[in-house]
Amino acid sequence: MTPIRSWKRIAAIGCTHGDHVNWDVFKHCVAFMDRYKAEYRVHLGDVLDTAAFRSGAKGTKDESRPIAPDYNAGIRALQLMRPTHITWGNHDVRLLDLMDHPSAILSHAAGSLWNELQALAKKLGAKTRDYDIDDGWFTFGDTDWGHGYAFGLQCLRDTANDRRRNIVQAHSHRAEQYKKSFSVGLQANPRLLAYARRRLATRKWSHGCVFGEVAETKTGGASNLWLSSSEPGSLPPFPL
Ligand SMILES: [Fe+2]
Ligand SMILES: [Fe+2]
Repeated sequence: MTPIRSWKRIAAIGCTHGDHVNWDVFKHCVAFMDRYKAEYRVHLGDVLDTAAFRSGAKGTKDESRPIAPDYNAGIRALQLMRPTHITWGNHDVRLLDLMDHPSAILSHAAGSLWNELQALAKKLGAKTRDYDIDDGWFTFGDTDWGHGYAFGLQCLRDTANDRRRNIVQAHSHRAEQYKKSFSVGLQANPRLLAYARRRLATRKWSHGCVFGEVAETKTGGASNLWLSSSEPGSLPPFPL
């Protein structure tokens, strides 16, 4: 067998959720990416929380959630992380979806924030993927990397089986592994995500970072990946 000489180091996190981010956990993971000298640094989406833009926000507390702290924290997180790749999440694309809203005020606000977000990604040199069940994935090695499109207890297994691929995703907020597929958990503080405080699944939320090496091969790629995870509020351990 020909030895693979083109291994590249990769590290991924996701679900920072604007000012709901746990900065200690996030900076700890970014510092690891720096020490690890990851060539691919992947943010798997939900950079922002966008609670005020949620379609059901009207008449709820979310409607009054300030936009600037959420947005500024998301921008700060991207600047600190310097991702090479971003797969936008469902919370991010609320802005995109509202760009053609009949309310001129709403479409202008959402469109301005979305365009600024895209401009920052471009300035950082990050490649991006839309939140799209078919096109929302990057492929590195033998694995597809994207935000995630299901939320149930078996969503990692189901998505990997649906794609017939190894996957790395965010969205479920549970750091976990299924065969050679992973979920990176969340970087946010679960206590701040108000919409999730009254369901049992939130008790399984955890922080995480997936890292390792990927390579392109004649037979479709290879990867050696690991998940480091921790309980909410504590730091995932890393080997260096
Ligand atoms: Fe999320
Ligand atoms: Fe999500």
